[in-house]
Amino acid sequence: DLVVVAIDGPSGSGKSSVARAVASRLRYGYLDTGAMYRAATWWCLDQHVDLTDGERVAATVRAMPLTIGTDPESPGVEVGGTDVSVPIRTTEISTQVSAVATNLEVRAELRRRQREIIGLVGRERGGVVAEGRDITTVVAPDSDVRILLYASEEARLARRSTELHGNASTANVEATRDQIVRRDRDDSTVSSFMQAAPGVTTIDTSDLTLQGSVEAVLDQIAS
Ligand code: ADP
Ligand code: CDP
Repeated sequence: DLVVVAIDGPSGSGKSSVARAVASRLRYGYLDTGAMYRAATWWCLDQHVDLTDGERVAATVRAMPLTIGTDPESPGVEVGGTDVSVPIRTTEISTQVSAVATNLEVRAELRRRQREIIGLVGRERGGVVAEGRDITTVVAPDSDVRILLYASEEARLARRSTELHGNASTANVEATRDQIVRRDRDDSTVSSFMQAAPGVTTIDTSDLTLQGSVEAVLDQIAS
């Protein structure tokens, strides 16, 4: 029967890369819920919606024609037929996504879609790995495996700096800090992903390689 693996954690803890690799290894489906909040933000900006207008934002997201890929080998994201996989990762979106993600009506809408996708792709492939901020606690608290990926702030900043700037020099880490730390703080007001909820296993990836983190999650699924 259907296996659901839920992974939460702060920015840069390794959720996306680890969840994708695990899903790929097990031939499960993959759901990046952060990509859905990013796509919602892209769509609102594309529609010239003022992000401080909560009612408009919620109505706009409810009407969002989103298609999210669930194949771990190529998880594309489309809104109304436009491929937004690249634009949703820009700094413009990263700095504004929390404003949309802290809207409770937006969360209710995306949570509904996430549960639907998890059920569908899970049944199709026998299992699904879903990652985000509130999967272990709100979206799928009855998942078979529930993991919180932890990494020290230092490790998360170095990883994101390396992704964005190609290195983790002091200047580049500082340039990344505002985005990551402020975003985690804003996101924490609606989801508690900095600490594991009861029944959720914490995996500290600070001193692991990516492969090591993948193995740790696979071990947890096998146990
Ligand atoms: P998140 O989805 O939590 O923001 P990502 O997977 O997008 O995290 O980014 C994590 C980055 O850190 C990736 O570039 C990944 O290759 C790198 N990385 C380095 N070490 C690890 C590790 N031990 N576990 C997970 N990712 C790691
Ligand atoms: O990978 P990164 O940490 O940069 O972020 P992400 O997983 O792509 O998520 C982007 C944003 O979406 C987060 O900063 C949250 O604001 C929001 N999000 C959320 O609120 N709930 C989730 N389950 C997933 C993401």
